[in-house]
Amino acid sequence: MLLANKKVLLCVTGGIAVYKAVALVSKLSQSGAHVKVVMTRSAMEFVQPLSFQVMSRNDVYFDTFDEKDSSVIAHIDLANWADLILVAPTSANFIGKLANGIADDMASTLLLAATAPVWIAPAMNVHMYEHPAVLRNIDRLYRDGVRFIEPSEGFLACGYVGKGRLEEPERIVELVDSFFNETPPLPLTGKKVVVTAGPTLERIDPVRYISNFSSGKMGYAMAKAAFELGAETILISGPVSLEPPEGVKLIRVESAAEMLEAVLDHYTDADYIVKSAAVADYRPKTVYDQKMKKKDGAASLELERTTDILKTLGEMKTTQRLIGFAAETTDAVTYGKGKLEAKNLDWIIINDVTDPAGGFGSDANVVTLISRSGVELQFPAMEKKELAKKLFTTIVHEGQDSL
Ligand code: PMT
Repeated sequence: MLLANKKVLLCVTGGIAVYKAVALVSKLSQSGAHVKVVMTRSAMEFVQPLSFQVMSRNDVYFDTFDEKDSSVIAHIDLANWADLILVAPTSANFIGKLANGIADDMASTLLLAATAPVWIAPAMNVHMYEHPAVLRNIDRLYRDGVRFIEPSEGFLACGYVGKGRLEEPERIVELVDSFFNETPPLPLTGKKVVVTAGPTLERIDPVRYISNFSSGKMGYAMAKAAFELGAETILISGPVSLEPPEGVKLIRVESAAEMLEAVLDHYTDADYIVKSAAVADYRPKTVYDQKMKKKDGAASLELERTTDILKTLGEMKTTQRLIGFAAETTDAVTYGKGKLEAKNLDWIIINDVTDPAGGFGSDANVVTLISRSGVELQFPAMEKKELAKKLFTTIVHEGQDSL
């Protein structure tokens, strides 16, 4: 029972296709929907209300002043009852009335009181359907939020062949079913997201390296959130001991240079790039093949700059949305905003890594999310997994909506 307990109100207006509306009520009822029917006087010229009463097992309404239940006002009660209002068939006259807010019978009056979605299935002669007045009225109703089930083409009762036939009841039921039962697409469906995570590791010799305290938890949480929100997700990870989230494609790298190469491989067709990784800013200028022998006295290591991956991406940016992290220990927001500008980012997620409630290695984090367009939002301490989902949802909705 695909439509079990769904309440569909069918308004039937005048036209030869009224007989199809009887079949429509039958099919909706067979699918489990509760159906109530309202008819116009013209519709009753074609089919008796009794047919609809039998098919819907409900009273049929046509007179605005026929108050069947004295505890309610019928047209308001019907409008409030419905989960969906179908008008099928809909005549050119009724479309005109609705477009102009005319309420002179039960059907047109309750439609003015309706808050449920309204779908109109027109049925008329092909020339009437193409008349500028009708097209104008359809356009106006569309702008008012009414949705249309396009008439199909074929032999019309008036003898013409063309567009104007009421859509078949089976098809209308299919549309009603998908309205009630189809889950809306996830916010990142069809998008490609690249997330970097963890530290990079810069070798000094076969036994020593330079790295940092990133555990990868924040980046892995961002990748998990992206996948759960529907994205094809590539996770480029420095060396960490975490299990990759289900569904993401994991690319393991070691150094900043390897991370740069992996990110560039996936950059062109990516929609969002999230740089959660703590990338080394410096690496040893010389990497020794053999273990460095210790000597008496102090030693020094000459370092050179790594490529700033995020800055490079910012310079190459076309349609991608670039999201950086800023790990700060003082004046976090000021420095973070500087990175947003300097690296040509769309968003920056700033964390003060001295905050005991978050930062490196912790399961939780406390961040400020800032966009280039001026959105600035504080996220209090929460689990990195929960935070990641909130951050992504906010970013996808351009700061309009956070979960
Ligand atoms: O991994 P966890 O233990 O969960 O910890 C999470 C985290 C603290 C590492 C994370 O929340 C975080 O802040 N990541 C960014 C760390 C960092 O490198 O910040 P930064 O301010 O130095 O760099 C700014 C941005 O430039 C970052 O997006 C960084 O990935 C990027 N960058 C930096 C240097 C470089 N050579 N290339 C880069 O792309």
